[in-house]
Amino acid sequence: MAIIIDGKLLAQKIKAGISAEVKTAVDSGKRVPALAVILVGDDSASQIYVRNKKKDCEEIGIRSLEFLLGNDTKIEELIALIESLNKDDTVDGILVQLPLPKTLDEKQVIAAISPDKDVDAFVSSNVGQIMLGTQIFLPCTPAGVMEMLAEYNIDVEGKECVVVGRSNIVGKPMAMLLLAKNGTVTICHSRTKSLAEVTKRADILVAAVGKAKLITADMVKDGAVVIDVGMNRDSNNKLCGDVDFDNVKEKASYITPVPGGVGVMTRAMLMKNTITSWKRRIK
Ligand code: GUN
Repeated sequence: MAIIIDGKLLAQKIKAGISAEVKTAVDSGKRVPALAVILVGDDSASQIYVRNKKKDCEEIGIRSLEFLLGNDTKIEELIALIESLNKDDTVDGILVQLPLPKTLDEKQVIAAISPDKDVDAFVSSNVGQIMLGTQIFLPCTPAGVMEMLAEYNIDVEGKECVVVGRSNIVGKPMAMLLLAKNGTVTICHSRTKSLAEVTKRADILVAAVGKAKLITADMVKDGAVVIDVGMNRDSNNKLCGDVDFDNVKEKASYITPVPGGVGVMTRAMLMKNTITSWKRRIK
């Protein structure tokens, strides 16, 4: 039976540390940190994510600016808003919740965010920095995973790391962070032949595909560390990850739950990036 990696507890610890740091600085007269979150449209999952981000900000002492825009928002309006936030010296981070309505070009919108305030690390120059290992902001979900591995003293060096999923938000940067820690990294995706053959090699397996319970026990090596980035609904509409948790936990040495695993850590890393930006800007 695997040790369950407690993302919730670790996220609390990280947020408490940030909160104390903010309090000390603000008590000594520094400007309050601020995060601007833009949500376009009425996607219900996105609404929950944005609400949670606001809650995290309140908990930590970050000023949260929320911009809720209609489905019919024009790209010019959205970019004008981003540009005004870029110029606003009291704003440290800008986050545009994805996905955007199909009428808006995500690439163009993300490109409008100032790299200095890009707390998601989605802007191309920041993505490039991650490749080079010279980044200011770590991508939130992969950074959260790395924090969990470190907290449980799981060494990456020399390990077979298999990332299932090649998204720009998770799969690709996840692979880069594991590589930076000297893991031997393989990325799998929908066209990978014999997926199970590859996943069975993994000492550290990261599932980030968005398919409920795709990773079954027969795809996992005995004693593997299994990280589940998925956030799906099963046939009973119950929240579940990309990993068949109940069966895989019997085989793995460590496993992350859903919820209470990677998701909460992603949120904590967003707070951390906001504070990183704020500290650079209040100097
Ligand atoms: N949509 C799903 N995950 C994310 C995220 O990490 N950042 C943003 N901006 N949108 C998302």
